[in-house]
Amino acid sequence: MSQVIGLFPTPVVRVERLLSGELISSITSEIQDSQKQTNAFSDRLSHTPVAGIEANETFARLGELVMPSVVQFGEVLFGETLGWQIKEIWVNVLEPGGRQSIHTHANSFISGVLYLTQPHPSANLVFHKSLGGTNFIFSNHNKNARINAYNGSKWMMPEITPGDLVMFPSYLLHEVPTNQGEQRISIAFNAIPERLDNFGYAVRFA
Ligand SMILES: [Fe+2]
Repeated sequence: MSQVIGLFPTPVVRVERLLSGELISSITSEIQDSQKQTNAFSDRLSHTPVAGIEANETFARLGELVMPSVVQFGEVLFGETLGWQIKEIWVNVLEPGGRQSIHTHANSFISGVLYLTQPHPSANLVFHKSLGGTNFIFSNHNKNARINAYNGSKWMMPEITPGDLVMFPSYLLHEVPTNQGEQRISIAFNAIPERLDNFGYAVRFA
């Protein structure tokens, strides 16, 4: 018997329909009137200013809604039920033809996205394994290669429903390819634990 053991997998969580239809429509109408800034890499993508959850009632309510899932995901990442804080939260409005270039979220541990619209399949979230480094890279990606979890270099979220929450470790590279569908609206956040403790060598985050 032979066995493949998947070592050190990366957790990505989808919580289905965390936001009710009613909440989605009230937040969506609020967003249409809010002030936005154009993204540095795509003029078809705009964001509200990055804020704390205390900035307004909607963000505070969303913070409360996502917190149990954040704590649970934190337990997966660090093996312990920790106190967590939503450090920043903002809205992304991606117009047809817009994209979000590849990036990670620095100074954060858990990043999350709440979907207010159903993304067009062209504009689903794509995660990347790496962008390379300072060594030469060998790869066997060709039409005969069967891509799997070990040789694949990127992965696209297969399906998203409005109201869903997707969370991933903040170090994970991700992007949104060019949106070939309708306007796509999401709310992103970053979360940090109050502390991490490695056999008494602890750090606290604020
Ligand atoms: Fe992001």
